[in-house]
Amino acid sequence: MLEIQGASLVSEGDERVEILKNINLKFYDKKIYVVTGPNGGGKSSLAKIIMGVFNTTSGKILLDDQDITKMNITERARLGIGYAFQSPPRFKGIKVKELLKMAASFNPEKENICNLLYNVGLCAQDYLNRDVDASLSGGEMKRIEIATVLARNLKIAVFDEPEAGIDLWSFQKLAETFKTIHMKYDTTIIIISHQERIMELADEIILMSNGMISAQSERDIILAGILNNGSCMCSTKCEKGVGQNAGCAG
Ligand SMILES: Nc1ncnc2c1ncn2[C@@H]1O[C@H](COP(=O)(O)OP(=O)(O)OP(=O)(O)O)[C@@H](O)[C@H]1O
Ligand SMILES: [Mg+2]
Repeated sequence: MLEIQGASLVSEGDERVEILKNINLKFYDKKIYVVTGPNGGGKSSLAKIIMGVFNTTSGKILLDDQDITKMNITERARLGIGYAFQSPPRFKGIKVKELLKMAASFNPEKENICNLLYNVGLCAQDYLNRDVDASLSGGEMKRIEIATVLARNLKIAVFDEPEAGIDLWSFQKLAETFKTIHMKYDTTIIIISHQERIMELADEIILMSNGMISAQSERDIILAGILNNGSCMCSTKCEKGVGQNAGCAG
């Protein structure tokens, strides 16, 4: 189980910004969680404190009762935590096949790299020898990064908006792939998403806004609430809750 206890995150810039506020969450083994909520709510920041990209300002993170709060990305990766970024980084001088082989080398089951590409809707012969650089489109890069996470037999896999920039056909395939990987490896999957179709995969949905957990419950309960109420980024409560910029003079 991955447990976050009273975690907060404050930005280190000139202005003190509280990005995450007293987050308490338990991610039980072998479950699928979807984290959703308005833009700027703190979802990617939550993913980054799980992976160790950001270190929490206070609070603790435990993996199977082991305190990993002070561990860096590499140490957490060794324990079986993986993260597919919202905007994947690109690497000069490395080919797609090398990147995937490297990821698959962590997995005793040695996933076939052509299958991995197929699972994210890419044709292996077109992509294996491509460089992982700016020549790849946003959607292609996103899929390749997801394939690197799928290549590993992970304990905790975090996907940050995997659907972003991915077309409809691949999107359906991606949803099936999440289910397969979850069944095959018993991975706990945490998906950050705004898509109802992805939310339908979840055992539980976590709603984040303003750096806090505003709700967490079984999928159907939260989904019904979202569909009925919409979501709003205004700090002032507004009618119907859908984007009416209450108090805006402009
Ligand atoms: N280094 C930083 N300094 C100041 N503010 C930051 C910093 N990093 C993130 N933020 C702010 O923290 C908030 C949460 O950002 P985060 O990227 O976690 O949101 P998100 O829920 O993933 O949004 P989206 O749905 O748009 O991806 C945002 O308001 C963002 O501007
Ligand atoms: Mg984000």
